[in-house]
Amino acid sequence: MLRVYLEGFLEAAAQLQRGFRDPEPPGAGRREAGLPVGWVAASVCCAVDHLMLRVYLEGFLEAAAQLQRGFRDPEPPELPPQPGRVAVVTGGTEGIGLATARRLAALGMHVIIAGLDVETGWAAVGTIRKETLNPQVEFMPCDLGSMASVRRFVARFTGRRCPLHVLVNNAGVMMVPQRLTVDGFEEHWGVNFLGHFLLTVLLLDALEASGSPGRCARVVTLSSATHRAASLDLDDPQGSRGYSAHGAYAQSKLALVLFSYHLQHLLAAAGRHVTANVADPGVVNTDLYRHVFWGRGPIKSLLGRWVFKTPDEGSWTSVYAAVSPELEGQGGRYLHNEQETPSLAVTYDPHLQRRLWALGCEMTGVPDVTEDLLPGASNPGPRTSEGSVSH
Ligand SMILES: NC(=O)c1ccc[n+]([C@@H]2O[C@H](COP(=O)([O-])OP(=O)(O)OC[C@H]3O[C@@H](n4cnc5c(N)ncnc54)[C@H](OP(=O)(O)O)[C@@H]3O)[C@@H](O)[C@H]2O)c1
Repeated sequence: MLRVYLEGFLEAAAQLQRGFRDPEPPGAGRREAGLPVGWVAASVCCAVDHLMLRVYLEGFLEAAAQLQRGFRDPEPPELPPQPGRVAVVTGGTEGIGLATARRLAALGMHVIIAGLDVETGWAAVGTIRKETLNPQVEFMPCDLGSMASVRRFVARFTGRRCPLHVLVNNAGVMMVPQRLTVDGFEEHWGVNFLGHFLLTVLLLDALEASGSPGRCARVVTLSSATHRAASLDLDDPQGSRGYSAHGAYAQSKLALVLFSYHLQHLLAAAGRHVTANVADPGVVNTDLYRHVFWGRGPIKSLLGRWVFKTPDEGSWTSVYAAVSPELEGQGGRYLHNEQETPSLAVTYDPHLQRRLWALGCEMTGVPDVTEDLLPGASNPGPRTSEGSVSH
């Protein structure tokens, strides 16, 4: 009975979500009234914070789907041992990143946790070494909110002449109050997007040197269902004209999907033995929600038990993307529950991908090689009317 109600509830919620996107019948002009779910939703949104509601709706749908998935008692993916392989996991000190580092270490990988806090970092290393009996787990400081720190991390890493087979761009901040990184970037944009952008670009040579035909190196970047609620404003990505913590988080997660797809195009064009995919962990019970009003205390504890994945379950898709033989040579995919899933339609727009990549290069001070690798890409054509892309 519960499952039947849940199916009906999910369908209704999905229709509400669809209403936000204002769908039209095939071959018709604008939709006539019909059941005005979308209209009601849109009106409520205008009255409150449109972005906030959309972000919550995406999260809510995801949580409801997970409740349904929980009935099926899913099992972690079975993956082969990975001795001699090296992985860097950003934000591997807590939550999904810690669980990812633990699972990769359990597969025999040499795991380097790139994180903010030295004490938490080495504590995480101690826990993983003890649990997995793998001594090859380390911590190296890397503050993704500081370009200098990212560059120091890469210099230290490459100085060791250590191979790099997997980079998991996992770290993130969510819905933080409006504040700036040490480089003066809005924090979601600076940490989630620009920090990972620079780190990945600077580590590409190491990844390429470690990839081989039939055994590509891999870049796995974490996004979220909230990317579906986002708009990307390339003229004002840091929200200087009006800040929404929900919008800023969702936008950074949308940017990471576009970034991964463009990266994959560049890697394929250059013939590098490296692939780039996106992992969406689902809704996971971690401290990421610390800045959300219900994110601490009894409401979350109660919800967490029922609808959230555990951090370990949240790591399954990242680990699958990092090492699964099924994904050998495959890139440009959005993975959710260890399966390819479509991302928001606008993420497949090569024009938008190129513009975002160019902006990332400009803001992090790295050369844009798109023109050399994808001829014609340097002239993306006229800008959209407002210079921003929404949907
Ligand atoms: N939890 C979810 O429901 C959910 C859903 C969709 C997507 N995700 C994504 O999953 C990823 C992991 O999230 P989580 O839930 O595991 O969150 P979490 O428990 O809060 O962990 C986030 C990690 O990122 C690190 N971090 C934050 N700022 C950093 C910086 N400037 N430099 C380096 N590391 C930094 C944190 O380190 P400190 O603790 O030292 O700050 C922590 O290790 C994020 O990208 C998030 O967007 C999560």
